[in-house]
Amino acid sequence: MSLSIKHLLGLEGVSREDITLILDTAVSFKEILSREIPKVPTLRGKTVVNLFYENSTRTRISFELAEKRLSADSVNFSSSTSSVKKGETLRDTIRNIEAMNIDMVVVRHAAAGVPLFLTKCVDAAIINAGDGMHEHPTQALLDMMSLREKFGSLEGLKVAIVGDITHGRVATSNIFGLLTMGAQVMVCGPKTLIPRDIEKLGVQVTYNVNEAIEWADALNVLRIQLERQDAGLFPSIREYHTEFGITRERLERAKKDITIMHPGPINRGVELDSDVADSEHSLILQQVTNGVAVRMAVLLLLSGVEASV
Ligand code: CP
Repeated sequence: MSLSIKHLLGLEGVSREDITLILDTAVSFKEILSREIPKVPTLRGKTVVNLFYENSTRTRISFELAEKRLSADSVNFSSSTSSVKKGETLRDTIRNIEAMNIDMVVVRHAAAGVPLFLTKCVDAAIINAGDGMHEHPTQALLDMMSLREKFGSLEGLKVAIVGDITHGRVATSNIFGLLTMGAQVMVCGPKTLIPRDIEKLGVQVTYNVNEAIEWADALNVLRIQLERQDAGLFPSIREYHTEFGITRERLERAKKDITIMHPGPINRGVELDSDVADSEHSLILQQVTNGVAVRMAVLLLLSGVEASV
């Protein structure tokens, strides 16, 4: 069993078979992660570089842990303490790192398209850990794993993505992945934060969060990037919370159990109230747990190593 892709740059165009293989492999890894010694020798001898040009807590630690659990050698690069500060280009940086014999690169960058660019510079497999406003594929994969775990299947599931859809790479990857897997997707947010013509992707749109809650089996609530207020895309944080914040009161009005997800980091009291984030309906910490298993699956399947889990 192998993937039909050499790199994971996004979920746009990734087949149902490939996504299913990643999710199934992740389920097997999750079982291994629950053992007393949560480590396998599968990627012994392989070297992975984590190239983070942008801040991260969950994704970075999750990839590092996944690499360690697979016994790969992992090296961490942080732009703030590297020769990038002396003016070294991205191409020179990656070609110099590759000259040290690496097998895979995990990259996060503020510019969309950097992972694709790296595929043209080096032979190593490239994994996108979030590029600008483009995609964040492993986040969507762990979101789908968490939903599949909870509901058994993604087929026909109704998932509403609430928040900044225009600038959100998590939204884009979730839309592509969920639609490929047969789920229904609705996006919800202020008109200024929803791309025009997004319906053409096959999603429904609402500007009314109560309608989204009424419709959905699960809400994936996205972080409101506070700098968007300075750009005038919504009047104030308080107004955003009033119009779109996910509160217990709103959920109780819907008179049904609804699953709550968030990729993190959360702005508590802005897009999501604390009592909802920490409620029994929240999958937020399971998402983080599943992130390690999903990233182990992606690393293994792109490594070229033939191993059954
Ligand atoms: N969800 C996510 O990408 O979080 P980090 O920015 O902390 O990696």
